[in-house]
Order: sequence, then C-alpha cells, then structure tokens
Amino acid sequence: MRQVLISGGGSGIGLACARRFLAAGERVLFCGRNRERLESALRELEAAHPGQVAARVCDVSRAAEVTALGQWLRAEALPIDVLVNNAGLFVAGSLLKAEEEQAQAMWETQVLGPWRLLKICADPALRQGRPLRVVNVISVTALKAYAACGFYGATKAALASLMDTARAELRDKGVEISNVYPGATETPIWGGRELDYSKMMDADAVAAAVQACADASSRALVEELVLRPASGDL
Ligand SMILES: NC(=O)c1ccc[n+]([C@@H]2O[C@H](COP(=O)([O-])OP(=O)(O)OC[C@H]3O[C@@H](n4cnc5c(N)ncnc54)[C@H](OP(=O)(O)O)[C@@H]3O)[C@@H](O)[C@H]2O)c1
Repeated sequence: MRQVLISGGGSGIGLACARRFLAAGERVLFCGRNRERLESALRELEAAHPGQVAARVCDVSRAAEVTALGQWLRAEALPIDVLVNNAGLFVAGSLLKAEEEQAQAMWETQVLGPWRLLKICADPALRQGRPLRVVNVISVTALKAYAACGFYGATKAALASLMDTARAELRDKGVEISNVYPGATETPIWGGRELDYSKMMDADAVAAAVQACADASSRALVEELVLRPASGDL
C-alpha cells in the first residue's frame, strides 16, 4: 500500500484523485487551505475508506506551512511514495489589469509550492531509499497562450520547466516526475462562471491520467501527458 500526498485534495481534480487512489487501496493524505472544505471531503472519503485517509491544513504558498508538513511527516515516519502536485489558483483577466498580489499568489501556489513539496518528499531522511513518483497537474495554458489567462499560463509554464529540470536531476535518484497538461475541466476553479460545462472534461478523466502516471511500470516513466476535451479547447 503506497502513501499518496495530494495538494489541493479537497475539491475538483485533487478530490477525484483521492477517490481513485483510495479505491485502489492506497493511503491518501491531502492538504489545502480551507479547513471546512478539507473536513467535508475527509468525511466523504473516510466513510468509504475508514482508516485509509487523512487531511491537513497546509497552504503551499507559505514556506513555513510546507516545512511544518515535512516535519510532521518525518516525526510520524510517513514517507511519501506518490506526490500529486495539484493545488492551483486561477485568476483570469488581462495581463495589463493583473494585480501584483494576485500574480504573487499564483507564483507562490503554482511554482514555489510544488517545488517545496517536492523538496520535502524527495528528502532522503524521509524517503529512506524508497522510490518517489511525482505527478504535476499543470495545464494546456503552459503549452499555448490564451488571451485573458493573465499570469496563470506563465506560472504553469514555469512549473513545467521547473519540473522538467527536476526530472533531469532526479530520475537516476529514484524520483520520477510526470507532467500532466489538462485542458478545460469542470471543477470549482471556474468560480461558477457562465460557461458551457458540457464541453469540459470531468475531473475524474484527469484523475485517471494522474493515476496512470503514478501506476506506470517501474521500467517506464510517463514524462508528459496532454488531455483536452473531446471537442477541443472551449
Ligand atoms: N479545471 C480546469 O479546467 C483545469 C485545467 C487545467 C489545469 N487545472 C489545474 O488543476 C489543478 C486542480 O484544480 P481544479 O480544477 O480541481 O480546481 P479546484 O477545485 O479549485 O482545486 C484547486 C485546489 O487547490 C487548493 N489550493 C489552492 N491554493 C492552495 C494553496 N496555496 N495551498 C494549498 N492548496 C491550495 C484549493 O483548496 P483551498 O482553497 O482549500 O486551498 C482547491 O482544493 C490546479 O492546479 C489547476 O490549475 C485545472
């Protein structure tokens, strides 16, 4: 039974990933900022998989909170076998109107947060020689520019580049890194905006791709996986 850490596991794609890993018999630890959201997701998951799942408040945009999570994992001797870097923040709008604070928050959440989690999970003191699989939920906005995506696309492209570098550095050290690039997916990230949700993918489709990366044969590494809605971009 592997131990899976999912950032932003309280909703959307992260919650769909938690459901899938739990159904496969893995242990899941998930985190997010909003305690109520975490507790509500935990209630649902615990009911179906008692004793297999835990949640912790951790804002990945805050270095101290990720450090505290790492200290707790070491104190509890809980090495992570699969890290799903899923937490994300989407503030849409024109670049010329973007605000410093929003740009900083997306940079911290989308780039520094995953890097911080990678560091704690790849730490030899925690891993004790175990292999680590990392799956990053990036976005097609890292591959193609879309108007009104503001800083979001740039932060996702930066995350992809950062994780490509980490893959090159770590693949011979037992750390294997997959980048998943989903297109539009029906989740709370859209903030209830008036859109044609029937044309989007469902969160479970993306979770299936994440799980496939984590489950690839030990002789194979899915380096990149791009998923778009069946009818293409919205
Ligand atoms: N939906 C799409 O169309 C789409 C497409 C491509 C990529 N993605 C990516 O997929 C990932 C999951 O998003 P989603 O679509 O499933 O939306 P979502 O339901 O809003 O999920 C995002 C999750 O991230 C958590 N989160 C946000 N900031 C955080 C932080 N600083 N620290 C810890 N947790 C944080 C949120 O929980 P709290 O608010 O409680 O912290 C939430 O549970 C994101 O990286 C997103 O960019 C989504």
